[in-house]
Amino acid sequence: MKTKAAILRQTPGTWETAEVDLEEPRSGELLIRMVASGLCHSDDHLCTGDIPFGIFPVAGGHEGAGVVERVGDSTPGYEVGDHVVMSFLPGCGRCRWCASGMQNLCDLGANLLTGARPDGSYRMSLDGQPVGQMCGISTFAEYSLISVDSAVKVPKDIPLDKACLVGCGVGTGWGSAVNSAKVQPGDTVVVMGIGGIGINAVQGAAHAGASNVIAVDPIELKREKAMEFGATHAVASMEEATALAQSMTNGQGADSAIVTVGVTKGEHVGQAFSAIRKAGTVVVTGLGDLTEVGIPVSIGELTLFQKRIQGSLFGESSPSRDILRLLQMYQDGKLKLDELVTKTYTLDTINQGYKDMHEGLNLRGVLIHNH
Ligand SMILES: NC(=O)c1ccc[n+]([C@@H]2O[C@H](COP(=O)([O-])OP(=O)(O)OC[C@H]3O[C@@H](n4cnc5c(N)ncnc54)[C@H](O)[C@@H]3O)[C@@H](O)[C@H]2O)c1
Ligand SMILES: [Zn+2]
Ligand SMILES: [Zn+2]
Repeated sequence: MKTKAAILRQTPGTWETAEVDLEEPRSGELLIRMVASGLCHSDDHLCTGDIPFGIFPVAGGHEGAGVVERVGDSTPGYEVGDHVVMSFLPGCGRCRWCASGMQNLCDLGANLLTGARPDGSYRMSLDGQPVGQMCGISTFAEYSLISVDSAVKVPKDIPLDKACLVGCGVGTGWGSAVNSAKVQPGDTVVVMGIGGIGINAVQGAAHAGASNVIAVDPIELKREKAMEFGATHAVASMEEATALAQSMTNGQGADSAIVTVGVTKGEHVGQAFSAIRKAGTVVVTGLGDLTEVGIPVSIGELTLFQKRIQGSLFGESSPSRDILRLLQMYQDGKLKLDELVTKTYTLDTINQGYKDMHEGLNLRGVLIHNH
């Protein structure tokens, strides 16, 4: 069949709507009619080249939700009409990482940025040439073929245009605070960068019982929004955040600082490192130029103050468990999803969506597929 998709032909580049050829589902695969996709910053890293991708063109998008249109063989538990959230991280359920409760690190993640299936084959093509799939799911396509390992079946009464956000941004931000920073009641937490990820780190830190949640963003709208999601303070710079955290902790510093800056650089991690107390934790969730090496931190401070720098993929969430947990919290009125969506876009206005993200106008822009 044919489907419209936002593809990227080269890097640097922008999204272009194209009609690509899509195969029939093979064993273990689902054909998904995509309903909505969040515009996460990580797809923009493909456009700038900060994250190198295995093949061009690539059909983008990794934060989506949709409806099962057809099922391949060996897809037990799935039927036509099921609602699914795509997890940007597949989970096989059997590898060492899945078996250890670290499904976010599943060995299948090796294929996230190749655009291909584990056996090297592709499911989309354009003029006879293979088209890669971002994270194996391509949620910027109206229809996509995904592995069941990337699907999480969700209750049908949850609106898919909100549920899509738990496929990446919500789990990543919330988990960065709850799982990676291990925020405790009474903590002082700094969140650096209030986009779709950081706003959920704010939400997670508040859920975990932090007494002080200091949101940092140079953009005023982001600071205002952070206060609505549970921040107790919002400032424009890390200098202010560090001074504030110290003033609240008898000079010690924050218990944790979570870095969710859009284009994360070593210097941002260094600033977060200066903001935390002895034996405190810096969580690095943001991504930037993947070839960049080096974080400016004092080895003395690292060793003698016993500080910790912790990377975090999908907020150390396990998709099969946590996507449903977060959606249950949403249904129970404990987790904000509706308020995350600042503006919606269509395939034809997706570049405007990313322009708006860069200008700091959106917590999250969401692409709505109209078919
Ligand atoms: N680790 C993971 O699993 C994972 C998952 C998804 C996204 N990410 C990454 O997380 C990052 C954030 O993504 P997003 O979608 O929230 O991006 P976004 O563009 O929506 O938000 C980034 C925010 O950072 C702010 N910012 C920029 N410079 C700053 C500074 N010096 N101090 C404080 N704030 C600053 C911007 O104003 C913006 O509000 C991206 O790098 C993305 O690729 C990581
Ligand atoms: Zn993402
Ligand atoms: Zn696995």
